[in-house]
Amino acid sequence: MLVTVLVLLVTLCALGGTAEERQEAQRPGHVSVVILGGTGDLAKKYLWQGFFQLYASQASSANTFSFYGGGLSPADSAKPVFFEILKAVSCPKDLSQERCAVLKEQFLRLSQYRQLKTLEDYQGLAKHVEQQLQEEGMTEAGRLFYLSVPAFAYADIAEKINSSCRPAGGAWLRVVLEKPFGHDLPSAQALAAQLGTALKDEEMYRIDHYLGKQVVSRILPFRKENKDSLDPIWNKHHIERIEIVLKETLDVKGRIPFYDQYGVIRDVLQNHLTEVLMLLTMTPPVNVSSIQEVQQNKLEIFSSLLPLGKNQAVIGQYQAYKAEVQKELNKTQDHVSLTPTFAAVLAHVADARYEGVPILLTSGKMLDERVGYARILFKNDIFCLQSQDSVHCKPKQIVFHFGHGSLQYPAILVSKNLFKPVQTDAGWKEVTEHANVSVLGLPLSDYYVQTPKVQREAYAELISHIFAGCKNNFISTENLLASWSLWTPLLSSLKGSFPRVYPGGADNGGMLDVQLKGNEISFNSKVVIISPDQVGRSSTDGFQVMQGKFRSAEMVSAWAEELVERLAADLQEAAEAAVRKEGVFHLALSGGSTPIALFHRLVLHHFSFPWRDTHVWMVDERCVPLTEAESNFHSLHDHLLQHVRIPYYNIHPMPVQLNQRLCVEEDGGALLYEKELGKLTNGSSFHFVLLGVGYDGHTASLFPGSKVKELRQSMVALTESPIKPHQRMSLTFNAINQAHRVALMVMGKGKHELITQLSRVKDDPEKWPVTGVKPTHGTLIWYIDYDALIG
Ligand SMILES: *[C@@H]1O[C@H](CO)[C@@H](O)[C@H](O)[C@H]1NC(C)=O
Ligand SMILES: *[C@@H]1O[C@H](CO)[C@@H](O)[C@H](O)[C@H]1NC(C)=O
Ligand SMILES: *[C@@H]1O[C@H](CO)[C@@H](O)[C@H](O)[C@H]1NC(C)=O
Ligand SMILES: *[C@@H]1O[C@H](CO)[C@@H](O)[C@H](O)[C@H]1NC(C)=O
Ligand SMILES: *[C@@H]1O[C@H](CO)[C@@H](O)[C@H](O)[C@H]1NC(C)=O
Repeated sequence: MLVTVLVLLVTLCALGGTAEERQEAQRPGHVSVVILGGTGDLAKKYLWQGFFQLYASQASSANTFSFYGGGLSPADSAKPVFFEILKAVSCPKDLSQERCAVLKEQFLRLSQYRQLKTLEDYQGLAKHVEQQLQEEGMTEAGRLFYLSVPAFAYADIAEKINSSCRPAGGAWLRVVLEKPFGHDLPSAQALAAQLGTALKDEEMYRIDHYLGKQVVSRILPFRKENKDSLDPIWNKHHIERIEIVLKETLDVKGRIPFYDQYGVIRDVLQNHLTEVLMLLTMTPPVNVSSIQEVQQNKLEIFSSLLPLGKNQAVIGQYQAYKAEVQKELNKTQDHVSLTPTFAAVLAHVADARYEGVPILLTSGKMLDERVGYARILFKNDIFCLQSQDSVHCKPKQIVFHFGHGSLQYPAILVSKNLFKPVQTDAGWKEVTEHANVSVLGLPLSDYYVQTPKVQREAYAELISHIFAGCKNNFISTENLLASWSLWTPLLSSLKGSFPRVYPGGADNGGMLDVQLKGNEISFNSKVVIISPDQVGRSSTDGFQVMQGKFRSAEMVSAWAEELVERLAADLQEAAEAAVRKEGVFHLALSGGSTPIALFHRLVLHHFSFPWRDTHVWMVDERCVPLTEAESNFHSLHDHLLQHVRIPYYNIHPMPVQLNQRLCVEEDGGALLYEKELGKLTNGSSFHFVLLGVGYDGHTASLFPGSKVKELRQSMVALTESPIKPHQRMSLTFNAINQAHRVALMVMGKGKHELITQLSRVKDDPEKWPVTGVKPTHGTLIWYIDYDALIG
């Protein structure tokens, strides 16, 4: 049985590594393995297991080993933990119990914990290795450092290794790194440059454990072996769509401090799914052993990928995430994290072969099942009039099933209406016993199924590659930077976007289904309007929009994203109606952070909004220069005005700065705005006024205790805010209440207390200014999201 493992290792090696590397790898001698972070989670779960399997597979070779667990803790305290971890490694399936027990005892004897913190610690380790080599008269084969530590420590450790732990006399040095390799292009470049001063490129092994998955590493060989069948159909004329999917059922509780800074795109799409995309679309190398050719062909695909923008992605966040963030990051109730835990991205390779083929990459936490796969769905041009169950009517597809899901095991599946794949790899077998399961719409019996004879853990697989010096399944610097170049613009464009909130698990239903249209992707589910008599129903069954009453005015409520969509749609409808009737639409907008999501929605999804005939006015303004970030106009400009085609002379900022000073009564700024309003609007009436509400019940810049009655005659006034900047200019109730339509937008859990209070208090504009909003002829609608309404 041991022989099988050795054979496997040799076949793996045949797939990668240059001739020199293989020769080097085969030079027998002593190998020192150092795992930094040797008592951490990853080491405990996978690494020591992987190295034990490596040791077992090499037991009858000419190599000898020592293993070091390195960490920051002193040896006294870490040692017991370390040996507990080592004792827990399990026997490879292909090894007898007796043999395994012997090997395990040897493995424990060859292992020790060392504190590796200071430069002296590293020098001490080097000295220890050299002494051992000398005493036992061994030649050195190489040193392997596995950095299972946070990425910020990489550069420092790499320098220490370079300055004190390089082996002498032609032995190899290999340093293994785990993601994240930066969080965007500039940080990845900086990290690569830092590492480059201490380590040579060929010494670095950047792990993407997905590349160690057996099915993933079979993609290229499969494509080559089945070239004759695939060549005619592996192109835009025959491929309907490519899907690369990693669904998880777990949440990220306990890992928020890390996860909240990364999110699903950086955590999964930028690396794992992108690598699978490369393997599926790159030109298979003529010589799979040539690392240069493999890397070159990958880079070619990167350069053909169309850039990813906001319209190529949809994002989501599971409902409980917000509370987890507040708890783990010590944030208050109104803290909102925009980090996505779900993303679906539509990519396109713009070359002659794949042009126009949609490539969907998607992953998320808290989904209905755990599964990973890539599916190539082919077009089926057969029209079945009657015998719809016959094989030629069914989907034509190839599924690279990485694991889990209904199938449970890794496999490559080819639907029987395509072709029968050849099977040459001695480590794989054909499955002929078809369990009663179906995979992506087809019963297993409708597929040719291939599966590995022995299932191996991705880490064990990659560790054997590192030992063999096969670099094909690792991420080169160029590859890494190319990937970040692809993802960084998308990540920047998503900044500030609200993810769709989903309940998690089976309850997600169709909420995260997406629609691919040309070059754009969107959520498939449309907003559903429930009639007012259903308002009393429990909130959990409706991820929808409901309508009801609040403070005896109309209310629309939904989860944030749907609410914003609904408000944007209502706004557009009002604009179109006004333009039809009067040729113009006068809109007054508030500042603050709540409307920003609305602005983004208007920019991105309402291309037909009549901006040309719209006049934009301000509800209120802070007495700061318009060029400052605090200015409401500044924010409105950044988030909305600069992105839409609105004529300059239709934009009406409040004149807070006159005679080179801010909001001085004698300068008459408020009166000036009032006059402009009177001149351009019909009877000073806005068609639409958008308002928010502050925690203290203020609206516009009308604060509790302000003498609203004294403002009775004017439309625009200078007011005082209890918070900085204190001076404001604001529309008065006169102006607001003359509007045709007033929308009051309230969002976020932090506003729940306020909403509860507002539902009870009587009209009292001195104490609760928002209760003074009472359009005399027009309508008032509250837009309240579920977080604010339900808490
Ligand atoms: C390693 O350190 C030496 C000096 O000790 C330096 O000359 C060299 O450039 C460093 N980097 C590499 C990749 O060897
Ligand atoms: C394939 O590439 C390897 C590594 O570069 C090389 O040693 C080998 O000769 C190549 N084989 C062929 C058939 O070109
Ligand atoms: C959260 O706050 C508590 C109490 O103020 C403090 O003990 C704890 O260290 C904080 N945690 C973080 C992650 O800041
Ligand atoms: C296969 O499974 C389905 C549902 O799990 C069941 O309804 C059906 O009877 C099963 N068929 C056979 C042949 O066992
Ligand atoms: C101006 O407003 C009045 C009263 O609301 C209305 O009757 C009239 O039609 C409006 N004029 C125009 C030109 O729209």
